Amino acid sequence: MTSDLSDLKTRVLIVGAGPAGLFLSHLLQIHGIDNLVVEQQSREYCEKRQRAGILEQGTFDVLNLTGVGKRLATQAIPHEGIDIASGGTLHNINVEDLTDGRKVYAYAQTEIVKDLFNHHETNGTLPLTGQEVVRVDEPNGSSVMVTIADDQHNEKTIGCEFVAFCDGFRGVGRRHFEAAKVDSWSYEFPSSWLGILAEAPPMNEVVIYARHDDGFALQSMRSNTISRLYLEIGNEEQLEDWHDERIWDELDERIGLPQNRGKITDKGKTPLRSYLSSQMRLGRCFLVGDSAHIVPPTGAKGLNLAIADAVCLGSCLNEFYNRGSELGLKDYSELAGQRAGQTVRFSWWCTRLLHSQLGCDRFEQRMLKAELEHFLKSPGLQQHFADNYSGLPFSRALEI
Ligand code: FAD
Ligand code: PHB
Repeated sequence: MTSDLSDLKTRVLIVGAGPAGLFLSHLLQIHGIDNLVVEQQSREYCEKRQRAGILEQGTFDVLNLTGVGKRLATQAIPHEGIDIASGGTLHNINVEDLTDGRKVYAYAQTEIVKDLFNHHETNGTLPLTGQEVVRVDEPNGSSVMVTIADDQHNEKTIGCEFVAFCDGFRGVGRRHFEAAKVDSWSYEFPSSWLGILAEAPPMNEVVIYARHDDGFALQSMRSNTISRLYLEIGNEEQLEDWHDERIWDELDERIGLPQNRGKITDKGKTPLRSYLSSQMRLGRCFLVGDSAHIVPPTGAKGLNLAIADAVCLGSCLNEFYNRGSELGLKDYSELAGQRAGQTVRFSWWCTRLLHSQLGCDRFEQRMLKAELEHFLKSPGLQQHFADNYSGLPFSRALEI
């Protein structure tokens, strides 16, 4: 049953309470722009979802500058760079020295989501949770009608001026754009990441990216006592076939450094995929974050790119509502899309360089190995890596 509640109105309706939606809402709040976040899951679910862990300098800075970085400032672990393990040796890439002092920071996505929810709670701007956006209609050029439904399929309609789809790769936003024949590019890699969270102090101070003939491996952290580790596995492999001992043995072998072993508290499989929409605006609707682009996690970019999109759209909407100019909104797709294109390219390049189960023939495998050897000796390529890893400049400056 649909009830059309004419008093349910907002200027900007934001679909999804992931990092993109929560942060965009926060920025609009700062600019005094009325908005509402609608999320299909519960707050608890959003706060517990295990995902990214490395923040670019720019992400760290915008969270701090906008007043949601209190815990981040004290709990994030700064990293001056990364290590690459190859052929039994660790090679350090000092990102801080190669850039103008830009670092990366270990701080879990779960904590950013908690910080943003807490901030919205204090401000009385909590998302409407447990409500799925099921339909989006633009009846005329000046408004959008969004239909939401609870788990009993009770529907309500919300009127708004703009919709920001921050609803991830499987959301309604991407389907809305694809139904309107908006073109996109996508690529599915033949391997996945098996990721674990373990109650064990990380063995290395910075993230280790390991290239090994058996497959890629990664050592990261969530704190000084919690490790986050990944192994490249085939898409057809099942999690059940990877018992704890086998995971630790394989991590030790591939990284070439015995890991501190501890209780595994989370185990998951993530497919490796690249996706890029050709447009991030359609009429009064915008794609923000994973709804517009997906990257394999090798470059640690997904979360950072979601925040960068939110900064860009927040600035364009501020220009529209507070300065009366539509120029930013017209440019959003081009500006955010260019940065996203570069980031999708970087993540794809890192993935090819470091993985070994990508279905390449023997010749390509040999060439990729040679490319990694070249990378480890080339100041120019390391500079390129450091610029991208620490984060490309935002396409529009943060406005606060
Ligand atoms: P999301 O975080 O996906 O948030 C979208 C939100 O929209 C969700 O809460 C969803 O419930 C909600 N939603 C969807 N449809 C609807 C609807 N119809 N109505 C209402 N709400 C809806 N990145 C890294 O950098 N490193 C990693 O290690 C890493 N690991 C990952 C592991 C997994 C399993 C996944 C899926 C992603 C991972 N990523 C990683 C990517 C990173 O977490 C994402 O890029 C980031 O979460 C993007 O944020 P977002 O806000 O755009 O989307
Ligand atoms: C993580 O800590 O989860 C992490 C670190 C680096 C990556 C991807 C994920 O490239």
